[in-house]
Amino acid sequence: MPEADHSKKQKEYYVNIPAKSQPFFLKGLNAYGWGLQNRMSNIFNPASGRTVMLAFDHGYFQGPTTGLERIDVTILPLLPYTDTLMLTRGILRSIIPPTYTNGVVLRASGGPSILKELSNEQIALDIEEAIRLNAAAMAVQVFVGGQYETQSIHNLTRLVDMGNKYGIATLGVTAVGKELTRDAKYIRLATRMLAELGATYVKTYYVEEGFDTVTAACPVPIVIAGGKKIPEKDALVMAYNAVQDGAAGVDMGRNIFQSEAPIAMIKCVREVVHNGLKPDKAYEMYLDLKGQSKNK
Ligand code: R5P
Repeated sequence: MPEADHSKKQKEYYVNIPAKSQPFFLKGLNAYGWGLQNRMSNIFNPASGRTVMLAFDHGYFQGPTTGLERIDVTILPLLPYTDTLMLTRGILRSIIPPTYTNGVVLRASGGPSILKELSNEQIALDIEEAIRLNAAAMAVQVFVGGQYETQSIHNLTRLVDMGNKYGIATLGVTAVGKELTRDAKYIRLATRMLAELGATYVKTYYVEEGFDTVTAACPVPIVIAGGKKIPEKDALVMAYNAVQDGAAGVDMGRNIFQSEAPIAMIKCVREVVHNGLKPDKAYEMYLDLKGQSKNK
């Protein structure tokens, strides 16, 4: 039906204002479609360009990890302070309230338990399930230099193909076996390979020497894994140094949920990652928040 002519307001086409066209805020992801970019904006905070992912998928190969015996008790209180969760579909369905609206990154590879050869993983999730669970990304371990390297690369490329079909991101995780040296040279090789093979973004371990060359050589965002539990101050220093060296955030598990004060810790990690709070100040903040929580 034609618009009525007697409208008082004149039409305005703003002919002198060029249409807005902005690059996507995460590096290397301009060539993707709206759906994938929207999902990545649900993992990374568009204001800071960074993310604090809370990783608690450890049970997929090691069962009830310390701090994760009762995810409903220990992890649910942390949800308000997360940008994203990294977890298995079993925990998502059984414990995480569907009212959680940030991105979820689903563990998508697995197989052997800690009792066996860990690197022998296969794809453990199909794309319909990822869609059904409204996953923002699927996470896959890649064992560069490991015994089952080719199989794990194949897992990655299969998930990338399936994910790209539907706009779901793939997080390539560099899994470093005990036999490999965790240095910048190795991490550069592994992260660059994963990006070249199509990972939307990459998770790896932080190394003190030369991590800026790792992020420079990787054309897509990198987040760091927290690794085994270390003192809170050291974990805050690691997070700070990683983002200063170009990481787009952290995917941290044990250093948060095994902390003496997990809520205080995740709040401080957020300040470091999103606002660049210096580690000394962040640690002061941690002690302060920890004290307050004890006094309650
Ligand atoms: C490997 O990707 C694991 O499943 C964890 O998600 C990862 O190790 C991050 O957790 P954490 O900070 O405890 O190392």
